[in-house]
Amino acid sequence: MGSSKYEKIIDYAVKRGFLWQSYEIYGGQAGFYDLGPLGVLLKNNIINLWREFFVRKHQEFVVEIETPIITPSIVFKASGHEESFTDYAVECTQCHRIFRADHLIEEKLNISTEGYPAEELEKLINENSIKCPVCGGVLGNVRKFLLLFQTHVGPYSPENLAYLRPEAAQGMFTNFKRVYDLARHKLPLGIAQIGRVARNEISPRQGPIRLREFTIMEIEFFYDEANPNCDLLYDHCREEKIQILTGEQRQRGEDKPVSISPAEAFNDGIIKSPWLAYWMCIASKFINALGVPGSNSYFEEKLPHERAHYSKQTFDQMVIVDRWGRVEVSGHAYRHTYDLERHIAFSKADLYAVRQLKTPKIVKRTEIQYDKVAILKMFGSRAGDVFKVISTISRDELLKIVSSAQGDSIVLNNIVIPKSVFTVAEVEEQQWVERFVPSVSEPSFGAERLMYIAMEYAYSEQEDRIILKFPPKIAPIKVGVAPLVDREPLKQFARKVYEVLKERYYVMYLEGGTIGRKYALADELGIPFVVTIDYDSVSKNDVTIRERNSRKQVRVPFSDLLKAIDLGLDGLDISIIGYPIVEYYS
Ligand code: GLY
Repeated sequence: MGSSKYEKIIDYAVKRGFLWQSYEIYGGQAGFYDLGPLGVLLKNNIINLWREFFVRKHQEFVVEIETPIITPSIVFKASGHEESFTDYAVECTQCHRIFRADHLIEEKLNISTEGYPAEELEKLINENSIKCPVCGGVLGNVRKFLLLFQTHVGPYSPENLAYLRPEAAQGMFTNFKRVYDLARHKLPLGIAQIGRVARNEISPRQGPIRLREFTIMEIEFFYDEANPNCDLLYDHCREEKIQILTGEQRQRGEDKPVSISPAEAFNDGIIKSPWLAYWMCIASKFINALGVPGSNSYFEEKLPHERAHYSKQTFDQMVIVDRWGRVEVSGHAYRHTYDLERHIAFSKADLYAVRQLKTPKIVKRTEIQYDKVAILKMFGSRAGDVFKVISTISRDELLKIVSSAQGDSIVLNNIVIPKSVFTVAEVEEQQWVERFVPSVSEPSFGAERLMYIAMEYAYSEQEDRIILKFPPKIAPIKVGVAPLVDREPLKQFARKVYEVLKERYYVMYLEGGTIGRKYALADELGIPFVVTIDYDSVSKNDVTIRERNSRKQVRVPFSDLLKAIDLGLDGLDISIIGYPIVEYYS
């Protein structure tokens, strides 16, 4: 076993089949991790919990979609990623390894260089004689590196350039109109997506924390800035407290977050968007449900030069961890109208929303009309041709032609038409609706990071054993079934219990060794409940249920087993339903 908590957890995770580095048999590939059987169960449970908090509980106005990973380059040109989704790389002139320039500087000088341009980074490297951390060689020039993975759709050709998406968000922006139509033009509207993304990180060195391919869970939440309709912030989040380290505090060199309710933080102008505040409130509850106490997480406001190009305000949700002090588990970006406006400009698609007005807006419009009688008189049998050619062009175009024509006539399809048949007039109109580009607040989480966080917070060592105290909802295996001894008739009864439980949960049949060893294995795998079958079970048709953290056991009739386990998985103390607590096997 390694020595730091991080090393212990990674050792544990590999040994117990949660995760390991990908392509191990070829020496491994940095930034890629495979999930083993328990890892898949844990991740799916975390995803489902996220879905419960962010989608199911908000299903009146949040819907989930799924869009492709491979994305034509035009989308990321429009989104600004092709230009701005970059990091700075520096190459060793001796061994030719490539590193992230800002990371080398941060490690050596212990300063944050987020947002520094290439020249500044190069100056810091030269002035402080920062060398290659592997061979000690001199470092070369700092250059921008595009973090998008490139590919081509179909046979290679420059026009077919595509990228693997680095975020799911653009799938939601490009589909805004469709989903908005499906929602019958109601705002606010959240579009959620859970899916794989890829980022070509320069030199990822944080194990499963910084991956080149991972699962993102994010919502683009669209709302009307003039009427955000965010009562939930006051109904649900008034009493909640979250910890925020504001940009101003950071600029003053402070590092102690303030405790404040999200509603208050919005009212005080600390958080600029009410929906950003609301989703931060939900994010705080969600991280708590993964087993992280409120005091161990906080939101850090990014400074303007640290923010992504699309964001007016960003908070990173940080969780205290053993190895790095803190790790970002989610980002909360106030993307306002940036993305939709860019897609409107690049695609010319109508990605507007409409709002009803309480009082009509009077708008002046220049209108063009033509005198049919005059045309009939002038053109006689050719009047039909004139009507036809006029009907083929839009009124706006006709207006443009007539207004800009020199002389007394215009020519359409070789027909000379006198300007006198047209009348141009200013008309006033009442408008009861107006089009606008909705604002967006985005909460975004990486699922694999949360797996690591859940493992670190669940991990404990007691006496001679490891116990993973996963909250029951995310525990990979929910129930263990253990005959007190591996003999009949206990084994037969235990098999029956296993078959019944398997219909509903992931269950592990525990066999071999003493009952104490079976409990120890269940604890190490984070199984919240073990159902034990003893000799009384056979004669009385009952079982005992042992709870992992308290080691408390209750005796329950077989007919009540599922009810009791369900209560326990919901986080309730199963002894409250009146079953006797028994001092039992350990
Ligand atoms: N969509 C959030 C991010 O790219 O980090």
